[in-house]
Amino acid sequence: MEKKFLPEYFYNGTTYFGAALAVLVLLIEGILFGMDFFLGNANVYLSLFIYVILPPFLIAGLLLIGVGALRRRRRIRLKLDLHKEDRLVIDFSIPRHRNTAFATFVVVVLLLVLTAVGAYKAFHYTESVNFCGLVCHKVMKPEYTTYSGSSHAKVKCVECHIGGGAGWYVRSKVSGLRQVIKTVQGTYPRPVPVPVHNLRPAKETCEECHWPGKLFGDVEEEKVYFSGEDTGPSRWTVRMLVHVSGRGPQNNGIHAHMYVDNKVSYVADDDKRQKISWVRTVDKKGVETIYTTKDSAYNSAVPPKEKVRRMDCMDCHSRPAHKFEAPVRLVNRAMLDGRIDAGIPQIKTKAVDALAGKYVSEGQAVEAIRAGLIKYYSEKQAAYYAGHQREVQAAIDQVVLIYRHDFFPEMKARWDEYPDNIGHWISPGCFRCHDGEHRSGDGKVISRNCDTCHTIIAQGAPDAMQKNIDGLPFQHPFIDDDSWKTTNCSDCHSGS
Ligand code: HEC
Ligand code: HEC
Ligand code: HEC
Ligand code: HEC
Ligand code: HEC
Ligand code: HEC
Repeated sequence: MEKKFLPEYFYNGTTYFGAALAVLVLLIEGILFGMDFFLGNANVYLSLFIYVILPPFLIAGLLLIGVGALRRRRRIRLKLDLHKEDRLVIDFSIPRHRNTAFATFVVVVLLLVLTAVGAYKAFHYTESVNFCGLVCHKVMKPEYTTYSGSSHAKVKCVECHIGGGAGWYVRSKVSGLRQVIKTVQGTYPRPVPVPVHNLRPAKETCEECHWPGKLFGDVEEEKVYFSGEDTGPSRWTVRMLVHVSGRGPQNNGIHAHMYVDNKVSYVADDDKRQKISWVRTVDKKGVETIYTTKDSAYNSAVPPKEKVRRMDCMDCHSRPAHKFEAPVRLVNRAMLDGRIDAGIPQIKTKAVDALAGKYVSEGQAVEAIRAGLIKYYSEKQAAYYAGHQREVQAAIDQVVLIYRHDFFPEMKARWDEYPDNIGHWISPGCFRCHDGEHRSGDGKVISRNCDTCHTIIAQGAPDAMQKNIDGLPFQHPFIDDDSWKTTNCSDCHSGS
């Protein structure tokens, strides 16, 4: 027998294959790692290959080396009828034993180092915004796009969706794996359903950065609206102080009352938590009050525990990072800062209608929006269009840009699927409870009073602004109509 570097049983097909696989994977890993290192974050899929897809192949290769050797060793022993005294003898004076031990040592150390580096990098990679937002590009596009334009654009996805601690990390990876399978099979739901049921409680995410006990004072908001009619005032401003924190000794601001001083819990009748018929508050002294609507299923019955949800940040701030704005808001804003020329007749209504249309894909939407608006202006506003083609074209370009940023037909993601619960204009929001219909047994009503949450300090058309720092009674924009006193805003306003 010729002299071999390693014991005889390493020389077999399976081991060769395993070794070849391991070397090949290491080589590819080396090249990719170099690319990742020198080119920076060149490609979101590079890290996916380096840290997630390739390592199992490396491990498989190494395992095959061992499996081949073990099988071969057994066979040799059987043939030589040595199995009766099959004891493991390691003798370092035998060169082959020395070589095997040395080779094993080198492989094990190399493997440990690679595993440590790999696991560390894999952890960071799977926690990165790139991994969460860009790898499943098609599925996550709506959330990633809106996130990138939000106040939280520098907060990593995982800081809200997972938070710290090993338990949630593992949980997220397990549910993530299920989602990967669904994505590969193409069976994921469109739109992604909300509320996210396994979202971590706000106490462990939002409150890592925001301190609810720290009151914010009043926040001044200025809203500007444009009329859909060509007659009457075309522009209307509302300026209000939103009482985010406590006011005066009674400390009845929004955060204080709804979060710090009272524990508010509720039962929703629908999956999206938009219809609320049972509300309970427990104040600092432990006094409990229950409010129900007339048609609540729990006027006499007690709701089952698993249906009761303790209100937290997300019940109001439902869209802190992924706000899909409604067409009216988007068009108002574009008209305000001049991206859409407010002088074009009917542009408000037409742009809003175009954005709110139902389309099957972004490509089809863009074509339909362009074609529809051109048709309208060239046929129905022919005289105006003849002299203002450039303005109309520029406005259409803006509508298309807006569409691309806030509407995602492939994932069916848009404002009416993902309501923002701050406010009450376009979706019920605060009026889910503050509609004046939620009463307690002793006759208390959850307030719908317009001064409870904000004070209007200025309102009106530009040439006829009313101003009063102590507060003004709301005047409905553009139309002289009092039905808002009894009808909820979102019964008439849907955002389109
Ligand atoms: C500031 C916290 C925050 C950050 C940062 C954040 N999210 Fe979210 N995300 C939320 C909240 C809150 C919801 C809504 C939960 C609900 O309504 O139940 C949500 C919902 C989602 C949903 C469900 C669909 C939807 O639109 O409601 C997806 C998917 C999602 N986020 C992905 C991401 C990705 C990807 C990133 C990073 C690119 C990210 N999120 C960053 C807070 C955050
Ligand atoms: C990692 C830290 C971090 C976490 C976690 C975080 N935020 Fe923020 N949040 C910020 C920063 C930074 C800003 C921006 C402040 C600024 O621009 O002045 C901000 C701004 C905000 C604002 C005001 C701006 C706006 O968009 O209206 C709200 C509301 C808000 N966060 C709510 C939340 C909620 C709800 C959660 C939990 C789902 C959350 N935040 C989680 C850091 C965080
Ligand atoms: C009852 C509803 C409600 C709850 C619950 C709630 N908020 Fe708010 N929050 C508001 C409203 C309303 C505003 C002001 C309007 C706005 O954001 O445009 C606001 C404003 C904020 C702001 C911005 C303040 C500023 O100065 O601009 C932050 C940050 C914030 N909330 C964080 C949180 C966090 C974190 C929680 C959970 C601990 C929370 N909120 C719970 C309703 C709520
Ligand atoms: C789940 C039901 C529910 C929702 C949703 C809700 N609230 Fe409340 N809110 C209550 C209850 C219950 C009270 C306590 C009424 C009382 O103490 O008499 C309350 C009280 C308040 C108070 C103090 C009122 C006072 O008279 O002193 C403010 C301010 C407030 N809410 C703001 C908001 C805002 C802003 C929103 C929307 C962003 C909102 N709430 C959404 C249930 C709700
Ligand atoms: C329970 C609290 C609450 C009550 C009661 C309430 N509002 Fe509001 N309102 C809000 C919040 C929160 C916003 C959003 C402020 C923001 O965008 O920062 C809002 C926004 C508005 C806006 C701006 C609409 C928009 O989103 O562009 C108007 C106008 C308004 N409210 C009028 C009223 C009128 C009129 C009443 C009385 C019928 C009323 N509000 C009662 C909390 C309340
Ligand atoms: C009975 C139906 C009805 C109710 C209820 C109602 N509105 Fe309106 N609102 C209208 C109509 C119709 C217009 C369109 C006027 C126009 O565009 O010239 C309008 C226009 C507006 C505008 C300007 C819209 C834009 O396109 O920019 C605002 C802001 C507004 N309403 C706020 C409210 C608020 C806040 C409430 C609740 C307190 C409310 N409305 C309740 C019917 C209603």
